[in-house]
Amino acid sequence: MDCRKENALSLTVRPVVGSRAKITALGTYVPPQILTNQDLEKLVDTNDQWIMERTGIKERHVLAKGLGVSDICTEAAKKCLATRGIPATDIEVIIVGTVTPDMMFPSTACLVQDKIGAKGAWGFDVSGGCSGFVYALLAGVKMVESGSYKKVLVCGADANTRMTDYTDRTTCVIFGDGGGAVLLEPAEEGEIGFIDSLSEVDGSGGVSLNLKGGGSLNPTSHETVDKKMHYIFQDGPAVYKFAVRKMSETTAKLLERNGVTGADLGCFIPHQANKRIITATAERLGMDLDHVIINIEKYGNTSAGTIPLAMETAVEEGKLKKGDLVLLAAVGAGFTVGTVLLRWEI
Ligand SMILES: CC(C)(COP(=O)(O)OP(=O)(O)OC[C@H]1O[C@@H](n2cnc3c(N)ncnc32)[C@H](O)[C@@H]1OP(=O)(O)O)[C@@H](O)C(=O)NCCC(=O)NCCS
Repeated sequence: MDCRKENALSLTVRPVVGSRAKITALGTYVPPQILTNQDLEKLVDTNDQWIMERTGIKERHVLAKGLGVSDICTEAAKKCLATRGIPATDIEVIIVGTVTPDMMFPSTACLVQDKIGAKGAWGFDVSGGCSGFVYALLAGVKMVESGSYKKVLVCGADANTRMTDYTDRTTCVIFGDGGGAVLLEPAEEGEIGFIDSLSEVDGSGGVSLNLKGGGSLNPTSHETVDKKMHYIFQDGPAVYKFAVRKMSETTAKLLERNGVTGADLGCFIPHQANKRIITATAERLGMDLDHVIINIEKYGNTSAGTIPLAMETAVEEGKLKKGDLVLLAAVGAGFTVGTVLLRWEI
C-alpha cells in the first residue's frame, strides 16, 4: 500500500515492504477464582480503601494449582480462533509475551502449539515484562509485513500470583493472573491496521523490578528460597515515577510523529499497573477519560495480559469500533517501554 494521507486527519500512513498487518480476532481468558481486597486484608496489614485509593484495584483473578500460563494462552487462543472461524492448523507462528512461563524451557509457545493443535506452526516466547504483549505484537506485525507469514497468533499472559510474596503488602495487592491472544493477518485493500510504534529499554532500571532466583546467575537453592528470591521484588515508587514519565513522553512522541493528537484517538489502551499512572498519562495526552480503557479494578496488574484484556473491555463497552485509531502503551520490568498506534479493522 502506498504512503497516503487519511482524509479526516493529518495522519501519514507509512509504506511497508510486503503487506500491511492488522488484528483480525481477539480472545481473552481469566481464571475463575477471585482474590478480593477483603481477602488480602486477612493476609497482610492493608485495607480496601488504601488499595483502591493508591492503585484502583478491587479484585484480581488467581490461576488454579496445577495450571500454568500456557493454559491461559490456550483458552484465549481457542476463543480467538473460534471468533475468526479458522482451525488451529492454519496458524503459522505463535509468539507468547510472558515473564511467568510454565517452566524455563520448553517455551510457552511450544506448549500452546501442542495444546491447541497448531500442527506445522513454529514459535517462541518474548520476555518484555509488562511490555511483553506489545513486543510480541511488534514481532508478529513485522513477520506479516515482510510478506512471509499470513497468520500469526500473538499471546500476552502472566500468572503473577505464582511469583508474589503474600507477606509483602506493597507488592501483593497489585498482581493478578490472566491474558489474551490476537490473530495477525495481512490487511485488505483500503485497510490500514498497524501504523507505527515506539519502543525503548532502560536496563539500568532492572534493579527496581525483578525476580532474581531460578536463573543462571542465582539458580534455585535453599539459600535463594530462604532469601525469597523466587518472588517479585519491586521498588514501587521508583517504578511509578519511571512509568508516569515514560508512558506520557513516548506516547506523545509517537502521536506527534504521526500527525495525530489524543483527540483523534478512538481509544487509548494502556497497560494496567496503577490507575494513577493511567490517568496521569491520559491527562498529559489531553485525553478525555471516557476514551481511556481502565479495567484494573477487576483484574489488577496481569503484566503481559493487561492490553489484550483491556482490548476486550474496550470492545464490550463499545469504545473500540472498526476504523478507530487506537494507541497502546506499556511500561514494565527492564525497564521496557512499548507503544503502538494502529487502526482497528474488525
Ligand atoms: C506499589 C505502589 C502502589 C505503592 O504506592 P505508593 O503510594 O508509592 O506507596 P509507598 O510505597 O510510597 O508507601 C506509602 C505508605 O503506604 C504503606 N503501604 C504500602 N503498601 C500498603 C498496603 N498494601 N496497605 C496499606 N499501606 C501500605 C507503606 O508502608 C508506606 O507507609 P509509610 O508512609 O508509613 O512508610 C505504587 O508505588 C505503584 O503502583 N508503583 C508502580 C507499580 C507498578 O507499576 N508495577 C508494575 C510495573 S509494570
